[in-house]
Amino acid sequence: IKAAVFASGTGSNFQAIMEKRDLHCEVVLLVCDKQGAGVIRKAEKYDVPVLEFNPKSYASKAEYEAMLVEKLMEAGVTWIFLAGYMRIAGPVLLQAFENNIINIHPSLLPDFPGKDAIGQAYAAGVGKTGVTVHYIDEGIDTGPIIAQEGVAVLPDDTEEALKKRIQDVEHQLYPEVINRLVRE
Ligand code: GRF
Repeated sequence: IKAAVFASGTGSNFQAIMEKRDLHCEVVLLVCDKQGAGVIRKAEKYDVPVLEFNPKSYASKAEYEAMLVEKLMEAGVTWIFLAGYMRIAGPVLLQAFENNIINIHPSLLPDFPGKDAIGQAYAAGVGKTGVTVHYIDEGIDTGPIIAQEGVAVLPDDTEEALKKRIQDVEHQLYPEVINRLVRE
């Protein structure tokens, strides 16, 4: 089973996937839309080929997604794991990989979708937030939920400390869910 990870950031979730023992699929491609993103160096470390692209050099989302679909097909990819990919998937990508694109988000969806979910939850003063793995649709963090794990916000928490605990949960949960799904 061949998979691609889509990421635009530091790549800590990418790393967690690569470090998972007995991962039941092979990550054959990293797709990155941000020049110089930390995740690119991580991919090089794990010898994962990188497909870097600049969305601005395409006329439309449909156009760059068609390019991506072609490359993904060429590489034999059947699963896509979004890990800090900061772009909304459009119909071209979604139709080509229906039911096989998942995302990880640092809140208990449907609470705090979108950017800076940890900061949003912290500012809202909730007692509990967490992590969600979900299927992707055309909305922002709205597809069907696959798995969730709660993380308590402690009385004397800082945003940084909360973020660290949420990320630790992400790094555990995402590879586990991936293993479960690709085997089904
Ligand atoms: C993670 O918190 C993930 O939930 C969100 O973006 C962040 C990516 O972090 N979608 P990293 O690049 O994997 O470190």
